[in-house]
Amino acid sequence: MSALAVLGGSPVTSNLLQKTSLKSHNDLARTYLLDAFDSGVWDDWPGVESMASAFQQEWADFNGSRFCALLTNGTHTLQVALETLDIGAFDEVIVPGLTWQATASAVCDVNAVPVIVDVDPETLCIDPKAVEAAITPKTRAIIPVHLYHRMADMDALLAIAKKHNLHIIEDTAHVHGSQWRGKSAGTIGTFGSFSFQRSKLMNAGEGGALLMQDEDLYWKVVSQRSCGREFKPGVKVHSGNYRMTSFQAAILRAQLVALRENAEVMDRTSRAFDRAIEAAPGVRPLFRSENLTRQCSYGFVFLYDQNAFDGLPATQFRKALSAELGVTFGTTYEPLNQSPVYYPHTKKRHQLSQEYMQAITPSRWQLPVAEALWRDRVVQALWSILGCPIEKAHLLTDAIGKIYEQRHALLENPK
Ligand SMILES: Cc1ncc(COP(=O)(O)O)c(C=O)c1O
Repeated sequence: MSALAVLGGSPVTSNLLQKTSLKSHNDLARTYLLDAFDSGVWDDWPGVESMASAFQQEWADFNGSRFCALLTNGTHTLQVALETLDIGAFDEVIVPGLTWQATASAVCDVNAVPVIVDVDPETLCIDPKAVEAAITPKTRAIIPVHLYHRMADMDALLAIAKKHNLHIIEDTAHVHGSQWRGKSAGTIGTFGSFSFQRSKLMNAGEGGALLMQDEDLYWKVVSQRSCGREFKPGVKVHSGNYRMTSFQAAILRAQLVALRENAEVMDRTSRAFDRAIEAAPGVRPLFRSENLTRQCSYGFVFLYDQNAFDGLPATQFRKALSAELGVTFGTTYEPLNQSPVYYPHTKKRHQLSQEYMQAITPSRWQLPVAEALWRDRVVQALWSILGCPIEKAHLLTDAIGKIYEQRHALLENPK
């Protein structure tokens, strides 16, 4: 067996992704972009046919949703969803401690309090038991995030929401096309909030969409994304401008064509990768609920056991694995109680009262599970890894086996 690539030996493969199985349809995107330009309708306006109105309908149909509204990004979608539900000053919204900062900062931006709870160590998603324990008379909503590779336990969360009369806003920024019991992610809660930012499975540079099943909520969102105009008589909500352009929608239309073809491929590759991880020493896959009937995820994640590798720190393992496979493996976002991009208590606009400033100070929350996952346990690669041809999945087992065999060489060379 060759020496480890990170120590100068030859890698298991120079690039696991030399030939991706995932489609992108960039030529179609280019055609749609020119069509949008030539049409002269560059924005998104209710009742006016455009690339935006076409994609809005197609995204609703693909997900089996009654309504879809396109917005500027996946942060504004959360903010608009909260405001549409009349959630605001001093209300409480429960969010997971392991997520991108937007999930919580959107709550602060409507002057509500994000109540940050710990996650399930087997899925990385919000822990329903922690949610139930955090409910108070001020709680109005839960924002589960289907993070990286799995979905939150929607059955448990729906039961809690029903019992306590709460809304669920699914943060679906990571799972375009995933399904829970055959229903699309984003159509199970009151709202589903998508991001089309550049790292996501569907990417228009920037962009967002809300799915919802209630017509009144739809017209409220349409008013809110368009400066509070009254498009349906009697329905308007004071607001600013959160509209997407037709150019973004043109790119997304082509990417939806690709997603239709890629969804099953990604699911099959995820399952093959989980099996490859099961066959490797000192690591294990995340728990996959049988209710997660289709998985199209932002990342591929597995769990590392430092003890099994005789104390080899996860950072060294991730580096060694990246070198063996020619793909970057990292960890999760920092937990919100220590995230360098989440510090809402420093902002003048949030100085509603001493009590509010204390309530939104991130360090007040204890998140031991999220912290351990981030620091020691998670090994994560972005979604493009799911383009790896299935017959190459065994290279993951081979690479981890090689690192395991030579773990002492790494322990002696901590770089
Ligand atoms: C889980 C999650 N929620 C929300 C967002 C916000 O989306 P956007 O960047 O489009 O504002 C992102 C991504 O950036 C995200 O990863």
